[in-house]
Amino acid sequence: MQKDITSFISNNPEDTIQFAKNFSRNINFGTVIFMTGDLGSGKTTFTKGFVAGLGFTNEVQSPTYPILNEYSTSTNFIYHFDLYRLKSISEFLEIGGIEYLSSKNGICIIEWPELLSTFDIDNKIEVKFKLIDNNKRKIDIIK
Ligand SMILES: Nc1ncnc2c1ncn2[C@@H]1O[C@H](COP(=O)(O)OP(=O)(O)O)[C@@H](O)[C@H]1O
Ligand SMILES: [Mg+2]
Repeated sequence: MQKDITSFISNNPEDTIQFAKNFSRNINFGTVIFMTGDLGSGKTTFTKGFVAGLGFTNEVQSPTYPILNEYSTSTNFIYHFDLYRLKSISEFLEIGGIEYLSSKNGICIIEWPELLSTFDIDNKIEVKFKLIDNNKRKIDIIK
């Protein structure tokens, strides 16, 4: 299937946050977002804007699972994964990874998703980050 790519040049962190806020408003619950790109390219910054854009304010730092931060309202969830330190897929499965990925009232937004590339995920969007220079980033949304 032909992929649809939208590119954005960000000139500072605020640009990235604003772009992520706007992006978040077009995303349905049940979506899984894979964020790829080098360390420092803006994945976590983007996530901050994304979470804020959907009106989530109660940041919950999960004490048990350092690879997952959960944000919630009374009915909806954002599951923010950072799989940088994940050694094997079994660690992801043990914390109920599949259930998170298939949640209908949750959005998974995932840093370092490479280990999950073998999963066949419906409703997946890829966001690719590229470091251009100190403050400049290229962000590609691939649907
Ligand atoms: N245009 C930009 N967009 C996002 N972050 C930027 C930008 N310019 C500079 N930065 C800085 O780069 C770093 C990005 O870090 P972070 O979002 O944690 O990246 P990642 O999660 O991809 O490792 C932050 O220190 C941020 O202030
Ligand atoms: Mg990060």
